[in-house]
Amino acid sequence: MSLPPGFLDELRTRTSLAQVVGRKVMWDMRKSNQGRGDMWAPCPFHQEKTASFHVDDRKGYYYCFGCHAKGDAISFVRETENVDFIEAVRILAGEAGMTMPERDPQAQEKSDRRSELFEVMEMAVRHFRMGLQTGAGAGAREYLAGRGIDDETRDRFELGFAPDSWQGLWDYLTGRGVDAQKILDCGLARPSRKGGNPYDTFRNRIIFPIRDARGRCIAFGGRAMDPDDSAKYLNSPDTELFDKSRTLYNIAPAREAAGKGAPLIVAEGYMDVIALAQAGFGAAVAPLGTAVTEEQLQMLWRMADEPVIALDGDKAGLRAAWRVIDLSLPLLEAGKSLRFALMPQGLDPDDLLRRQGPKALQAVLDAALPMVELLWRRETEGRSFDSPERRAALDKALNEAVARIRDQSIRYHYEQAVKDLRWKFFNPRRARSGGKEKRGGGARGQQPAWASGAPTRNESKASLLAAAGDEVQIELREAVVLATLILTPSLADEFEARLERLPCTAPDHARLRSLILHHGAEGAEALRARIGQELGADAVDRLCARPHVSQSPGVRRPGDEAVARQTITAALNWIDAENGLRAEVAEAEQDIVGLSDESVTYRLSEAARLRRNASQVFSEDQAEYEVADNGVRLDADERRDARALFDSLLESDSPKK
Ligand code: UTP
Ligand code: MN
Repeated sequence: MSLPPGFLDELRTRTSLAQVVGRKVMWDMRKSNQGRGDMWAPCPFHQEKTASFHVDDRKGYYYCFGCHAKGDAISFVRETENVDFIEAVRILAGEAGMTMPERDPQAQEKSDRRSELFEVMEMAVRHFRMGLQTGAGAGAREYLAGRGIDDETRDRFELGFAPDSWQGLWDYLTGRGVDAQKILDCGLARPSRKGGNPYDTFRNRIIFPIRDARGRCIAFGGRAMDPDDSAKYLNSPDTELFDKSRTLYNIAPAREAAGKGAPLIVAEGYMDVIALAQAGFGAAVAPLGTAVTEEQLQMLWRMADEPVIALDGDKAGLRAAWRVIDLSLPLLEAGKSLRFALMPQGLDPDDLLRRQGPKALQAVLDAALPMVELLWRRETEGRSFDSPERRAALDKALNEAVARIRDQSIRYHYEQAVKDLRWKFFNPRRARSGGKEKRGGGARGQQPAWASGAPTRNESKASLLAAAGDEVQIELREAVVLATLILTPSLADEFEARLERLPCTAPDHARLRSLILHHGAEGAEALRARIGQELGADAVDRLCARPHVSQSPGVRRPGDEAVARQTITAALNWIDAENGLRAEVAEAEQDIVGLSDESVTYRLSEAARLRRNASQVFSEDQAEYEVADNGVRLDADERRDARALFDSLLESDSPKK
């Protein structure tokens, strides 16, 4: 409906925001200055004891310094009364003594028609709920009880049952005088192709009424009772009332709970939402059998600044996360973001709650990752960045993602966060020790850290540089880590985070890592069997028989946690140090243009020193590690310029000044 020009301006001048808000809050009179229309109160949109909600009555705007809610009288009424724009205007106009213009007849007709359809939907809700009480619903009641849904929850979500009959609902509705066409328009029945009566959409299914933000039933979801049914879940088709891309299951109760401070959780399915609510996580919603849409994201952000997306921790779950990230990057604005809670492998929130209870779920929520972390993971996981080209490709991918953020300030902060992550990723040791190390280089000898076991010979720089590719060396270290963990999988948890950063240079390595992480807890036997199934019966033996691997103490003493821990730590440290050095070299190379010779040399010397400090050599006989001073090695493929610089550096072993 259209309002005459000037109507809203008039309404705003006639309305006192302080008065409108005053009905919902207790002013903090010590903080407020009534004469100046400068009013403060505890915020009505989030739970708080202090008064951070500010009303500027003269300007007619409010702003909460706690939850950043902001707006004018109209938006305040919309939010607090849960009504749409025109309804809010109507309420305020009534109070201000202004007459609303007549609705245009077309709009009136449309709204009458919708309310008729809503009535039919409510009748259907009643019918389905009755169905769950009757004899035919016994199996459904049992099923729900078996899934741990108590009676109170069942009633709260108005769960119902559609018995296995073709015209149950049809007969019920037509018998009460409902027009056949309306039943079809509500999506409750489908026309028969054989010329008979239309047949019920939902048969032999548990029914979940789907209500909109104003609590009106707009659709149903139905879960098949028969495990052989071709569709486990069936939703109402899109109708005049139902647009599934603009609807979230449980939106109204979730909105209320989120308003009171409950974390807003986005789950995948109906049963997750219901189980979450029953466990005390009242602000849970789910999309309706589709991926999250842009409209749904906007709905979520109107309810909470940082909704938490609950995902299955498996590949499909992560893929869903990438989709949400791609969708939301351009939409981010200050204060509005997402977090991602990764459920343990293969479990949805409902499974997790039933198996491990609310505490476990809370722990997963507490560990939810910010979006930038996931973005980083997507671009880096399971890959290695051992060449300038690969690093450039990583930078390109990250820059492209960040460039899609429209909000300038958010984009800036993402750039910073990505820089930080990049730094930590490529300089793990330095990042951990907090800032640049200024320690001296220790002894000056050059020993290759990567020579397995105890390096005894001093190798010349030339032979160092000509040695087999770094890739092989890293791959061998990885193989040691993986083999040790396969033989002593009780350590998998402890090393989880570092394992996830493993470049996985060989194709099987990523697969092995994933098997270790997901099945390590089942014990060495079971894990080995799993790997056998996936990668061939002799996969573990082949891995353990590799030259470097077979001699490592972790492999020679399976099950010895202390030895395994040392073996793994040393190998991972080695990989980290090597990657850190390469990063430095690559970075220095990128900067060569336009930089003075001295500064490039200086950076490289820093890298060399770092590498010496970081590298650890494993002494196999004692199963001990000691810091040794090691030479610096470069990838044979590194650019010649950088290598020449590095070579002269090694010769003098001190920065050229
Ligand atoms: P899931 O298959 O993960 O089911 O579907 P679930 O939620 O864990 O259900 P239970 O625990 O087996 O009962 C997640 C969501 O995907 C949609 C539904 O919205 C469901 O809640 N879905 C699933 C469909 O729309 N159709 C299907 O056939 C399956
Ligand atoms: Mn489930």
